[in-house]
Amino acid sequence: MDFHLSKEQEMVRKMYREFAENEVKPLAEEIDEEERFPMETVEKMGKLGMLGIYFPKEYGGAGGDVLSYAMCVEELAKVCGTTAVIVSAHTSLCCAPIFEHGTEEQKMKYLPDLLSGKKIGAFGLTEPNAGTDASGQQTTAVKNENGDYVLNGSKCFITNGTVAETLVVFAMTDKTLGNHGISAFIVEKNFPGFSVGKHEKKMGIRGSSTCDLIFEDCVVPKENLLGKEGQGFKIAMQTLDGGRIGIAAQALGLGEGAVNEAVKYTQERVQFKKRLSQFQNTQFQLADMHTRMQAAQYLVYAAAVKKQNHEPYGMDSAMAKLFAAEAASDVTRRAVQLFGGYGYTREYPVERMMRDAKITEIYEGTSEVQRMVISRALGVK
Ligand code: CAA
Repeated sequence: MDFHLSKEQEMVRKMYREFAENEVKPLAEEIDEEERFPMETVEKMGKLGMLGIYFPKEYGGAGGDVLSYAMCVEELAKVCGTTAVIVSAHTSLCCAPIFEHGTEEQKMKYLPDLLSGKKIGAFGLTEPNAGTDASGQQTTAVKNENGDYVLNGSKCFITNGTVAETLVVFAMTDKTLGNHGISAFIVEKNFPGFSVGKHEKKMGIRGSSTCDLIFEDCVVPKENLLGKEGQGFKIAMQTLDGGRIGIAAQALGLGEGAVNEAVKYTQERVQFKKRLSQFQNTQFQLADMHTRMQAAQYLVYAAAVKKQNHEPYGMDSAMAKLFAAEAASDVTRRAVQLFGGYGYTREYPVERMMRDAKITEIYEGTSEVQRMVISRALGVK
């Protein structure tokens, strides 16, 4: 697979990297410490087209490609895991299903505000009793006399949930049909009967908002059914195939960021009258860490290119997420070890990177789910 970047891709990568260094890195520690959503950064990213990278210009997108999007998330994650997941959840989990499954009216109504960052998007699939077993949806959607849908139930662990104004939400329209009875809806924050519930206090990605969504007789107009009735589970699965590229890119950036920090620190820190980098253990550790992240990069970019080319890529995105997430957890943990006692303090970013990396093994399908997807794609029964 050819990963030679085009001139445009090189240009946008440079722009994302400079933005990450100049606008994102300086806030990373503060938003983690204060558990504060970086709205100011989101506004700036919207103006630069970073919230609609691979969508056509006619809907307000930047007209870029999926690899550029992955590189954007990667560059952001090198310095701030929170900012990276805000972009990933918004793009992959809300903009993408509307673009891929929406009617022309839905696309014209919702995409311009989402892709310009005027509105933030979220994805409501997970429920207290439907996590890994996503087909066990308990939220219901019942048609009323006007043909509109009345939603009742709740969702949990919703990334961007507090700030999102447009949400793609899943609910059971016919319980007797199992996963074929699930439908997808576009919900606006101000629909009566919709509210935001409990906010989670998390180990990592602490600046991102994660909360419950509550539906109490929430009326969703019939025009806001996304796809057809009963297609919701497939829409969710296809959306997660794409979403996993974003999370894999987030993990990739976190691991690479930790390698960068460790390379710098071990050349400064002196013990036993030598720089840490002069010890063979350090050199071998850094070599292994970089190699793992480089391998992750190939998997992430391959999945992105396949999605862009409309080739089947579900297995590729699962492999990319599985490998990058486990690599990021290992590499960030090793970085903390190389920093020693200082690595365990908040004076250096590696402890934050280690906390942020852990979630990439859990959300948008745990590593175990990725293994299920991969083994099923291999035909293993
Ligand atoms: N694309 C299209 N269709 C798909 C599909 C895909 N990738 N995967 C499965 N399907 C279809 C199947 O073909 C099947 O169709 P039929 O019923 O017509 O035959 C149907 O969906 C059911 O498939 P399975 O039998 O494989 O489904 P399952 O119940 O065994 O579940 C699973 C499989 C892989 C475990 C799935 O439930 C899953 O991915 N779970 C994890 C959910 C997840 O990732 N949640 C994260 C939520 S978002 C988040 O993390 C938060 C955030 O905001 C960042």
